[in-house]
Amino acid sequence: MRIRPRARFTAQAMQAANLLYRRPVLADEIAGPASAHAAAVSSLLHRDRGVVLDLGCGTGRMLGEVAGLRPRWDLYGVDWQLHLIRYAAQVRPGPTYERRDIRHVDIGRYADVITCIDVLNDIPPRAVKDVLRTIARHSRPGTLLLTQLTPPTRPLVTRTLATPTPLNLLPRRQARDEPEHTQQIHSVLGELTVTTRTTVSGVRNSCETIHRSWFFEDGSSVQDTFRRWPLQPDDLAGRLARLGFAPHHGLQHGHGSAGDLRVHVFTGKSPAAATTRIPRARRQHQVHLSYRFSALSRSMPAVIPHHDVLQIGAITS
Ligand SMILES: C[S@@+](CC[C@H](N)C(=O)[O-])C[C@H]1O[C@@H](n2cnc3c(N)ncnc32)[C@H](O)[C@@H]1O
Repeated sequence: MRIRPRARFTAQAMQAANLLYRRPVLADEIAGPASAHAAAVSSLLHRDRGVVLDLGCGTGRMLGEVAGLRPRWDLYGVDWQLHLIRYAAQVRPGPTYERRDIRHVDIGRYADVITCIDVLNDIPPRAVKDVLRTIARHSRPGTLLLTQLTPPTRPLVTRTLATPTPLNLLPRRQARDEPEHTQQIHSVLGELTVTTRTTVSGVRNSCETIHRSWFFEDGSSVQDTFRRWPLQPDDLAGRLARLGFAPHHGLQHGHGSAGDLRVHVFTGKSPAAATTRIPRARRQHQVHLSYRFSALSRSMPAVIPHHDVLQIGAITS
């Protein structure tokens, strides 16, 4: 039997595979403004000072807006693509941007709010736990996590995570093609047409391979192919609960609520934050908390809906 080598998961490979990571202006234009997300983040903390850590900040489009709303907060954006970090620092100065891998980064501070918007689906299943550990490492009781699993705008994807699909029932080797679709985009780079075809495969973890063809006004074209691993909201909630996180109810109603934004908000403290920065005595305390909250996770299926708000309660000490 031929064993397929694992695709490389590096910043360079990611950039090479996705035109939007090479053209941040276009990425910004397609994603659109992040005002609603920024407003949501800003509304999570009723304090003059606060620390926000945006994991996988990309072009900094959300942090830039938070900076406008909360000029006294300390904002950190981490992304491993130098190109994007440079662009963010240039176009949206103010926050501290670091080129780092979100699986291992440690900014040396706890965050009051951690955001991870449209990032976890780009992380191969084997690496998701490392990103969750990073979240845990920067959390303390009351830290809020706002995460979005589906792209903020999705003109370019043909299937979204929120759609319940019995992917796990697919035979191991069977892959399924989604219908191809074509879009015209009036962009800063001129008129362009993009055709997208998605292949879905996988058993335990579904994998989407997205093939796009971009056709530019000047007659040139670019093909890109990249993979995404849709993470189900209840899977995420279960994993976070094991790390001591619980759904948070703060963003439920009104315009810009979690439901509107398709975001999930959690609060908590992770026992997995047993890293060098955290003293042993506190580690024991955190382990105790994890037991309390893993019990809560048993009731999660009841509270995890197909819409997007996951709220499990708050760790307060
Ligand atoms: C789809 S973009 C979303 C960017 C931004 N959060 C937004 O909403 O505009 C996903 C981002 O995650 C970043 N990313 C993925 N894996 C990463 C890793 N291991 N370390 C750092 N950044 C990562 C990518 O470089 C990319 O900028």
